[in-house]
Amino acid sequence: MMMAKKLLALLLCVLTLLTGVCPLSSSKRFVKAGEMVVLQCPQDTLNHHGDTELIWTRYTTQEMFVANNTASLEQWNMDVLVYGRSLVILSASVTHQGNYSCSLGNASNQHWFTLTVYSKQSRKYNEKIEDLTTCYTQEFCKLKCPHIKIPHITSNGITWFKEGESLPKEGYFSSVEKSDSGVYTCTRAYLYQGQIYNITLRVKLDVKSKGQSVIISPHNGDVFYVDLGSTLVIDCKAVMYTDFDEIFWLSNTSFVETNDSLPVFYNSTWEGNPDHIKMTASLIFKKVSEEDLLKCYTCKLESASEFPRFATITLSQKSHPVSLTPTLSIVGILVVIAVTVIVCVKFKIDIASFLRDTLGFRRGDSDGKCYDTFLMH
Ligand SMILES: *[C@@H]1O[C@H](CO)[C@@H](O)[C@H](O)[C@H]1NC(C)=O
Ligand SMILES: *[C@@H]1O[C@H](CO)[C@@H](O)[C@H](O)[C@H]1NC(C)=O
Ligand SMILES: *[C@@H]1O[C@H](CO)[C@@H](O)[C@H](O)[C@H]1NC(C)=O
Ligand SMILES: *[C@@H]1O[C@H](CO)[C@@H](O)[C@H](O)[C@H]1NC(C)=O
Ligand SMILES: *[C@@H]1O[C@H](CO)[C@@H](O)[C@H](O)[C@H]1NC(C)=O
Ligand SMILES: *[C@@H]1O[C@H](CO)[C@@H](O)[C@H](O)[C@H]1NC(C)=O
Ligand SMILES: *[C@@H]1O[C@H](CO)[C@@H](O)[C@H](O)[C@H]1NC(C)=O
Repeated sequence: MMMAKKLLALLLCVLTLLTGVCPLSSSKRFVKAGEMVVLQCPQDTLNHHGDTELIWTRYTTQEMFVANNTASLEQWNMDVLVYGRSLVILSASVTHQGNYSCSLGNASNQHWFTLTVYSKQSRKYNEKIEDLTTCYTQEFCKLKCPHIKIPHITSNGITWFKEGESLPKEGYFSSVEKSDSGVYTCTRAYLYQGQIYNITLRVKLDVKSKGQSVIISPHNGDVFYVDLGSTLVIDCKAVMYTDFDEIFWLSNTSFVETNDSLPVFYNSTWEGNPDHIKMTASLIFKKVSEEDLLKCYTCKLESASEFPRFATITLSQKSHPVSLTPTLSIVGILVVIAVTVIVCVKFKIDIASFLRDTLGFRRGDSDGKCYDTFLMH
């Protein structure tokens, strides 16, 4: 049904283009008694003739009033002004209720307004939502009160209320929460001839929570195998959702510096995306030393909105096969094979249980000492 109506409207507009005769376009307005109303005649781009005058017509059940300027509005016998393309009702009352139209010249191109005025106490009053603002939790958030520009009438400030609450609000939040979501009303005050007139508009605030910042790599407990004296770079990669989050490196419990003249330092890069930031903090060892192997390294993600997250890693020296001259090594290998075969055959069971005991024992012992220490800080 809606679709059919839209198609019809479209068809009529195409017709307009062809014939220059525009069908009725219309809008509905609902306001509370006492509010100021501004009916703005849509800008006509199709057939604008500079010399033709804007004519307002008001229809009541008994009569039709036509006005082509503010002076001629006097016959309407109401507090109504015309400025440019706007018809302004300073303080709406039930008598203003009805149909209005504006047209350029004589009736070729009309726009209709149906105005409904509710009493101040009416619960039926349900003006449409003018604007939607989306903000993210823990961030600065500003509500937008749609601007209505009326020539010769001075804007005189905005008052905010949240629907269902009686105390005025500020139009912004330094750190917005999910509970701040909802419908707000903004009342724009206008000063005209020493009197204040109000226009109240409804806007909706939707507060969403962003994804949680995380460290992608390395994983807590990772061990990096290195050669002493070599250069080592360990990238800590994180995905973050606010500018306030950051990652940095700790060595045991002290901060690693970013000064690249030090033997161990880190540097970082950012990559901004529409909804998240990728940050990489590279821990750089110019020459891995014995001392470096004794420390724990922690990449820490510090976030304004969440608990800090971290990944602690350790370094371990790579094991190398002992290098021997080729002939010696061949002889050595043969001897080792021979001895192994003999020993294996002779002490099969003893070796099996020895291996199980020692390896099994060592595994259980070497877990997580570093991060336990770190966690306590
Ligand atoms: C405005 O309307 C009055 C009658 O209401 C008419 O005499 C006058 O010529 C009109 N002015 C123009 C510019 O059309
Ligand atoms: C306004 O127009 C609507 C249809 O567009 C009509 O039903 C209604 O009776 C009109 N009201 C007045 C007061 O003329
Ligand atoms: C529109 O203008 C034409 C002449 O320009 C006139 O004959 C006609 O009566 C006018 N119609 C209305 C509704 O005023
Ligand atoms: C205009 O709005 C303000 C703030 O909401 C209110 O105090 C004042 O009474 C209103 N004035 C009128 C004329 O409605
Ligand atoms: C970096 O470290 C070197 C050596 O410790 C020092 O001389 C220099 O002042 C430091 N630079 C900065 C910017 O801290
Ligand atoms: C980080 O420092 C290393 C070593 O000085 C350098 O090669 C690399 O380009 C630096 N990266 C950034 C992003 O500055
Ligand atoms: C760093 O922590 C480890 C494990 O807690 C400890 O063995 C080592 O001595 C510490 N090193 C330094 C320089 O504090």
